Amino acid sequence: MTESAGPLLDQYGRAATDLRVSLTDRCNLRCQYCMPAEGLEWLPGDETLTDDEVVRLVRIGVELLGVRQVRLTGGEPLLRRGLVGLVAQLAALRPRPQIAMTTNALGLARSARALADAGLDRVNVSLDSVRSETFVKITRRDRLADVIAGLEAAAVAGLTPVKVNAVLLRGANETEAPELLAWCIDRGYQLRIIEQMPLDAQHGWSREQMVTAEETLARLEAEFDLVPTGRPRGSAPAEEFLVDGGPATVGVIASVTRPFCGDCDRVRLTADGQVRNCLFAREESDLRESLRAGADDQEIAARWRIAMWGKRPGHGIDDPSFLQPSRPMSAIGG
Ligand code: 5AD
Ligand code: SF4
Repeated sequence: MTESAGPLLDQYGRAATDLRVSLTDRCNLRCQYCMPAEGLEWLPGDETLTDDEVVRLVRIGVELLGVRQVRLTGGEPLLRRGLVGLVAQLAALRPRPQIAMTTNALGLARSARALADAGLDRVNVSLDSVRSETFVKITRRDRLADVIAGLEAAAVAGLTPVKVNAVLLRGANETEAPELLAWCIDRGYQLRIIEQMPLDAQHGWSREQMVTAEETLARLEAEFDLVPTGRPRGSAPAEEFLVDGGPATVGVIASVTRPFCGDCDRVRLTADGQVRNCLFAREESDLRESLRAGADDQEIAARWRIAMWGKRPGHGIDDPSFLQPSRPMSAIGG
């Protein structure tokens, strides 16, 4: 390391070690809480980072900035051409980061083995319902069978623990949490239920409609015995519960009602090379511009550190002055 290696600190004493890299803003689903039915205007190809640019930024992250975990997201990361090769390049970095991916699992049945061989460590699969009608209602696509096949392939390929992320929407799947949990436990997947955040492109989120973690827990407790694992939450946002004495667990992520911003260790890189210090940041720092203007590693690292220093203490979703970020989740990365 050089003399100017050092972590991505902010003014509140947090250090970002978990880098979420969005590889594309495109997606083959249209989840209601994320995208409008007609999709969005996608980023032009020349604004999207190339593989070499992604690898270079992640390398700077791990070599100079203390990044230890890389999570590939989207949009849908499996839609990125050359993903297996990109994973292999990330796995060759030193110190080698942990490499995870958040995916809707469409097509994962075909690629799980190659991704695992290339160095992918784990996956989180987004799945909100195991009922075909509900799945179609939420995602606007009839693809439940592909997701299930993708999950199975992930487990077989050792991309474990396989986690399932679910968002509950009122009037769609809010009563299905116990069914989803039983389904995941049967298959050895770890379910985590996430409170819906105001990140949809259509600005349809409302606090009143949101299914709270408390409501979800009450529904689960009607059918299962839940005991907090007592594991300190730390920077892991899920509050974890042992289900019926264990070993199965369920996580409930109260992103809105019990924010964990004080322990946040994340930083995000969008597919077009902007650093976002928070999902809800209103500003981004353009690293693509620096890269393409010929900046050296130290200059890019310095720019990145400055971007993190300005991270706000919390998202303030429950505050009247809250403003939704101008880019939706699919463009920011989960
Ligand atoms: N609120 C909460 N979670 C969301 N996700 C996408 N949009 C939202 C939202 N508005 C989840 C997806 C996926 C991960 C990237 O984030 O379900 O698992
Ligand atoms: Fe696609 Fe994920 Fe958004 Fe659903 S939540 S539309 S799977 S990017």
